[in-house]
Amino acid sequence: MASTPWSPAATSRLRSMLALLLGAVAMAPPSSVKEAAVPAGTARDVSRVNRQGPFVGVVVPNGFEMEPLLRSPEFSPAKKLPYLDVAGRRFRFGTIANRKVIIVMTSLGMLNSGVTTQFLLTLFDVEGIVHFGIAGNADPNLRIGDVTVPRYWMHTGLWYWQRYGDGREKELALESNGDSTRKYGALNFSDHTAGARKPAAGNLLNSVWYQPEEVFPADGTPESRRHVLWVPVDERYYGLSEKLEAMTTLERCVNNGTSGTGLPRRPAVARVERGCGASVFVDNAAYRQFLRSRFGVTAIDMETAAVALVALSSPYGRSRTSPAVAPQGRTRPACTPRWRRRTQSLSPFALYRC
Ligand SMILES: *[C@@H]1O[C@H](CO)[C@@H](O)[C@H](O)[C@H]1NC(C)=O
Ligand SMILES: *[C@@H]1O[C@H](CO)[C@@H](O)[C@H](O)[C@H]1NC(C)=O
Repeated sequence: MASTPWSPAATSRLRSMLALLLGAVAMAPPSSVKEAAVPAGTARDVSRVNRQGPFVGVVVPNGFEMEPLLRSPEFSPAKKLPYLDVAGRRFRFGTIANRKVIIVMTSLGMLNSGVTTQFLLTLFDVEGIVHFGIAGNADPNLRIGDVTVPRYWMHTGLWYWQRYGDGREKELALESNGDSTRKYGALNFSDHTAGARKPAAGNLLNSVWYQPEEVFPADGTPESRRHVLWVPVDERYYGLSEKLEAMTTLERCVNNGTSGTGLPRRPAVARVERGCGASVFVDNAAYRQFLRSRFGVTAIDMETAAVALVALSSPYGRSRTSPAVAPQGRTRPACTPRWRRRTQSLSPFALYRC
């Protein structure tokens, strides 16, 4: 990026402002010293919790996705300290099928799920993450109620929006130094005109090019980026989820048995190759079909890619002895099944003995 040269006057103003600021910091009385993000009392509770670790983190977007799990007989809340509230998040401790878990709700979208996952990994001794929730489906062979477990996730919300008049062959700004790329294709708005033929003049919205994420792996050189389009879930967790495919006890309804809507057939569990997401609720058939034809995705949601990306760039720290360690022993495993519809009877966690 081109840097704006500072005038000498601006530089000296900046320098005196900085000096003033540093002076103010130096003068601040000890009583006004801020607590770190986690107050000392909470930090003590965090250490106490971690003595019981490692845990499997269970990350859930919303209350209506989390409630069935909390109510499930599979989940037993911890007796001494059932939860800890940090930064507006509630971390719930307990066990699912004798496995120690920390359940946390992220709320909607990439930012919330990314930040919450980072809090989870920064504070607690977590050996892996299971993420679940409702997703849209782009595969016409699947039905409402089916459960999918994608192997790779892509964030489809990092765009380069190309100016009107530029075609496919026109290099993007900053493409030469690797900040943008045309490698992964574009959504051209003029390809999606309703009814009439493609307008000769194209569409003023022209095209958006999909960009890979820039990640900073914990074991890499600081500030040295790597580009990632497809974030894999942990191989071992993905392997374990094969057992879910044999599950034939899902109820033939969405919501719950009493008020649920009947389904044409019993829901199935399928491991699939790809899912994608962005902070965008996709209730649009044309875009869904585009995502399927361009990227081969099945599940479309608003959180998983962020959870997977955060897990990817986290160090594999305290729980080295965990059997769930990724093969290279460096990255935190992320297991991110996506339940396409909630069913009250679903208790998949017993199957995640990671
Ligand atoms: C998008 O479509 C219009 C109309 O066909 C075309 O002029 C333009 O070059 C296309 N842009 C890209 C990036 O494919
Ligand atoms: C099913 O849903 C209805 C309406 O939302 C609710 O009143 C009822 O308690 C639910 N039943 C169960 C078993 O969760």
